[in-house]
Amino acid sequence: MNKLKCAVLMLMTVVAAPVLAVGDAEAGKGKAAVCAACHGQDGNSPGGDFPSLAGQGAKYTLKQLRDYKSGARVNGIMQAQVAGLSDQDLADLAAFYAGQTAKGGSANPEYVELGERLYRGGNPDSGLAACAGCHSPTGEGLEAASFPALAGQHASYTETQLRAFRASGRGDLGAPAYRANDVEGDGLGMMQAVAAKMSDVEIRAVASYISGLGK
Ligand code: HEC
Ligand code: HEC
Repeated sequence: MNKLKCAVLMLMTVVAAPVLAVGDAEAGKGKAAVCAACHGQDGNSPGGDFPSLAGQGAKYTLKQLRDYKSGARVNGIMQAQVAGLSDQDLADLAAFYAGQTAKGGSANPEYVELGERLYRGGNPDSGLAACAGCHSPTGEGLEAASFPALAGQHASYTETQLRAFRASGRGDLGAPAYRANDVEGDGLGMMQAVAAKMSDVEIRAVASYISGLGK
């Protein structure tokens, strides 16, 4: 290899090095004290629309915190929470929650059959993709791709998120919340496309099924 080529390669390595702050879970523990009221001391939240964060992949959590900070993900409560935090703070918090253990919930038996069918096989009639394909059969997600863990999450929070993705993907007017995950800016956010194909009943059933996964 000649010298120029070698120098170019070295430069590329430097440029390609991740600009991500490396999270320090120990430092994150202290910083998470202000989050505990809504998300629980150990990231298992008391319920309802406060998501549990315990055991969630750090990469996904960091992306969400950055999305709130940039305004890409809209939520008044969370945008206020992260407004004064540095990128290092966000990375430390994400590392802390990734190291906690999710306690999980339970599914409503009434919804298990439909929920499981959708989760594992999607809906061939509407072209709905199987959730398991991206979120894994166990619901633990795929950390490397920032596909979040879903297992054990509160059904009510999951329902709210699916409705918000659906509203963004379809442009529903008057929807209470919108959530885009159009990372490339090409209008093809993965979850927007998925949720746009879901009926209210399907959203309810799969959210319930997910809350019982992972035990
Ligand atoms: C007053 C209550 C409250 C406090 C305090 C709070 N949060 Fe939240 N958090 C929420 C709510 C409500 C949501 C759901 C928002 C939405 O629908 O986007 C949320 C969502 C999140 C999410 C997205 C979870 C996911 O699965 O996508 C993360 C990450 C998060 N919060 C981290 C934090 C951190 C870190 C702190 C402390 C610095 C914090 N929160 C403080 C209420 C709170
Ligand atoms: C093609 C891959 C893919 C498929 C299929 C898919 N998802 Fe997702 N899902 C994602 C990605 C990527 C995200 C993260 C979006 C973001 O960064 O905001 C996500 C996020 C979510 C969230 C938000 C989690 C949180 O903590 O806020 C929920 C809920 C969810 N998906 C449920 C589902 C359900 C239910 C199905 C099946 C009906 C499904 N997903 C199918 C890729 C997928």
